Amino acid sequence: MVAKRKILIQLDSDADPSVFDRVVAIDAGADEVFSYGGVKPETIRDKVHGAIFTRGPKDLAHTAFFIGGSNVGVGEKLLAEVQRHMLPQFGLRVSVLLDASGANTTAAAAVRSAARHLDLAQARALVLGGTGPVGQRVALLLAQHGAEVRVASRQLERAAHVVQLVQDKAPAGRLEPAAIDGPDDLSAALEGRTLVFAAGAAGVILLPKSARLACKTLRVAVDLNAVPPLGIEGVDVTDKGVDRDGVLGYGALGVGDLKMKIHRAAVARLFESNDQVLDAEQIYALAEAF
Ligand SMILES: NC(=O)c1ccc[n+]([C@@H]2O[C@H](COP(=O)([O-])OP(=O)(O)OC[C@H]3O[C@@H](n4cnc5c(N)ncnc54)[C@H](OP(=O)(O)O)[C@@H]3O)[C@@H](O)[C@H]2O)c1
Repeated sequence: MVAKRKILIQLDSDADPSVFDRVVAIDAGADEVFSYGGVKPETIRDKVHGAIFTRGPKDLAHTAFFIGGSNVGVGEKLLAEVQRHMLPQFGLRVSVLLDASGANTTAAAAVRSAARHLDLAQARALVLGGTGPVGQRVALLLAQHGAEVRVASRQLERAAHVVQLVQDKAPAGRLEPAAIDGPDDLSAALEGRTLVFAAGAAGVILLPKSARLACKTLRVAVDLNAVPPLGIEGVDVTDKGVDRDGVLGYGALGVGDLKMKIHRAAVARLFESNDQVLDAEQIYALAEAF
């Protein structure tokens, strides 16, 4: 009996399905990638039925969904909808991976990079730009691993909202919000921190060098912004654990290698069984192998 070809069904909320995600899918072992763009929650049901009713339950591990697109909120809705239309009671389901905007694999790579140098359970972290999709997932992974997490935003209400969202997913998490509107707020937010992430919008400096140098407790600084000016002043975009004035720095491209390995591993994992749902936590578990 010839093994079934591995089919990855790419559901992208953007009009043009991501070429990046298609290339990674092939490199990760998919034999065929069926790419759909402009996908909306209301168009999911028929795609799920197409996936689960065509091959018998024994062969469903060779079919899987990848959810991408630049809108992470829509990606989360697509994930919920994909799960809603599967029929696990009859063994009719396929595995699914959510990595809209690369947020899950990027956050996993960022947190895993820091964990090479610090015991996360002892870490006191500050997540700058913590309200974006990547920052929220960084905060979640840190909280799930026992770190003290300060989630920063320019607006306290936005930071508090994210703290609540993360707390709902990680009830034992130790989280607090911080509003940063100027240098005094930044130095207060950095007080006592051992670990900082800059997950702000591209091209925005969130941590100037003077503030970084003034924080004597800081040991690791991870920047996810690859677009100049970079998010952490004095940490180069290609840094990968480089000592910068006594702090180990990672730049966005320094984290990028690991992000790519995690992305490929996550796609490959989809084809190991038909019952996996890979979101931030499960993707981080894969990252721990690297
Ligand atoms: N390497 C990769 O594969 C990869 C993948 C995805 C993302 N990234 C990078 O990771 C970073 C985070 O991505 P994201 O999509 O989560 O970011 P985002 O949503 O664009 O921005 C994150 C947060 O930054 C804050 N922000 C926006 N403009 C700002 C400004 N002018 N000054 C200060 N703060 C500002 C906002 O928070 P408040 O409004 O609450 O202050 C926003 O919620 C980006 O630099 C992105 O390019 C890298």
